[in-house]
Amino acid sequence: MQTATVENPLREGLRLERVPAPCAMVIFGASGDLTSRKLMPALYNLAIEGLLPSGFSVVGYARRDLTHDVFRAQMRDAVDKYSRRRPVDPTVWETFEQGISYVQGNFEESGDYEKLGKELERLDKERGTAGNRIYYLAAPPVAYQTIVDNLGGAGLVGEEQDESWTRLVVEKPFGRDLGSAIALNEHLHTVFREKQIYRIDHYLGKETVQNIMAFRFANGIFEPIWSRNYIDHVQITVAETIGIEDRGGYYDKAGALRDMVQNHMLQLLSVIGMEPPITFGADAVRDEKVKTLRAIRPISPEAVDEFAVRGQYAPGWVAGQEVEGYRQEAKVNPESVTETFVAVKLLIDSWRWAGVPFYLRTGKRMPRRVTEIAIQFKSVPHSLFKSTAGSPLEPNVLTLRIQPDEGISLKIAAKVPGPSIRLRSVNMGFLYGTSFFVESPDAYERLLLDCMYGESTLFTRRDETEAAWKPITEILEGWAIAPPQRIPQYDAGTWGPAEADAFIARDGRSWRRP
Ligand code: BG6
Repeated sequence: MQTATVENPLREGLRLERVPAPCAMVIFGASGDLTSRKLMPALYNLAIEGLLPSGFSVVGYARRDLTHDVFRAQMRDAVDKYSRRRPVDPTVWETFEQGISYVQGNFEESGDYEKLGKELERLDKERGTAGNRIYYLAAPPVAYQTIVDNLGGAGLVGEEQDESWTRLVVEKPFGRDLGSAIALNEHLHTVFREKQIYRIDHYLGKETVQNIMAFRFANGIFEPIWSRNYIDHVQITVAETIGIEDRGGYYDKAGALRDMVQNHMLQLLSVIGMEPPITFGADAVRDEKVKTLRAIRPISPEAVDEFAVRGQYAPGWVAGQEVEGYRQEAKVNPESVTETFVAVKLLIDSWRWAGVPFYLRTGKRMPRRVTEIAIQFKSVPHSLFKSTAGSPLEPNVLTLRIQPDEGISLKIAAKVPGPSIRLRSVNMGFLYGTSFFVESPDAYERLLLDCMYGESTLFTRRDETEAAWKPITEILEGWAIAPPQRIPQYDAGTWGPAEADAFIARDGRSWRRP
């Protein structure tokens, strides 16, 4: 990893120890949504904080015929609309936009990559980017292989050397199943080495997700109880109120299992389930995460219904607004059986987790937006308070709230004041908002900066991606054997189909209502 302390006019007044070495970032698919909504706003916010290296440059690469100035103006509008800090600060922008340029090119045209090469050489000369490059694949996944081949063919991929480096950032979806993910990995490896590849999963960039590791491994009291000896089960919920927005074309081919579970939710599971790593280094952490993923019990296609249940939203009401059903959405097959809700039960066959089910549930058009991990502990072995408590004692639940209302709470039983012993559940809590008076950066800010540093702990390694695809592919194969005539429906604005309640009730448990 190369870092250097360099002068940066935007850093004035900030006492930072290091910034990454100067570099250029090429965004393939620069006219797309991701660039406007996430990448440019993240880079701009890094600029405000003085975290970008001097001479940092962004090259937009896309098909449209645009001048540098038009592209810059478009990016300024995007930042104005989507940045967490708005409106744009003209002084910061003026310096930042000097590093933005545009290359008009097709993904398939090898000649266009020569143009790109010339632009990068210009930046090296004029802005001192020193041959350091990040190629960001924000293009449709079908184009990944072509782009990578052309970069290699045009001689634009150097080794990760001491003098300069080249890195590749790959967005999701990373394949459609295990086979295609392996094929994509093989293909990337024909041009890039594994240590040059940064597979991005924006959940890992969230402060609250990183804090799971701090919570587990920087506090001595939780690790001893973090196992089957004390934990009954774990529920991971990612509920969204939004529908599929204008992504019908993509979503109808993907579905919730691929869109959310394969990546974000299995990442959450692996951070909760991993053994303590030896260090916080990229390989040490990822070695432990991948072991957890590999320990997930295989799901045979015939038994798929024991492990997964799906649903699709019908018309309904969300936050006081009437919304249409999934099949009425644009670019969705009116007879689609794609799932917009899925719940799965995963068993991790390890000493730590034997017999502790992990229930994962995600859906669009749910009543509330909430992402949380609830660790439900076993009930007390013998209750002294049974007869006087009124209702049965609830077990302790530790809830890690990823978003919104970021924080952690622990549900405990407490005595209600008064002459008799009556118990009630109360929450002990920590809230980011009241403990730290700083706004959390967006996940992309953290991840882009890490990539510039060559720090890959929060990116998914090849073996992790493949290990995460394995159980997902098994479920998909099970579903493919008997394609449903009718996928369970749920009204928009509810917590999923009745089948999901029956699914967990079979184990004598119930879903939380966050
Ligand atoms: C994306 C999915 O990866 O994550 C979207 O493709 C989903 O469907 C989004 O809405 C959720 O991200 P967040 O950060 O809003 O929880």
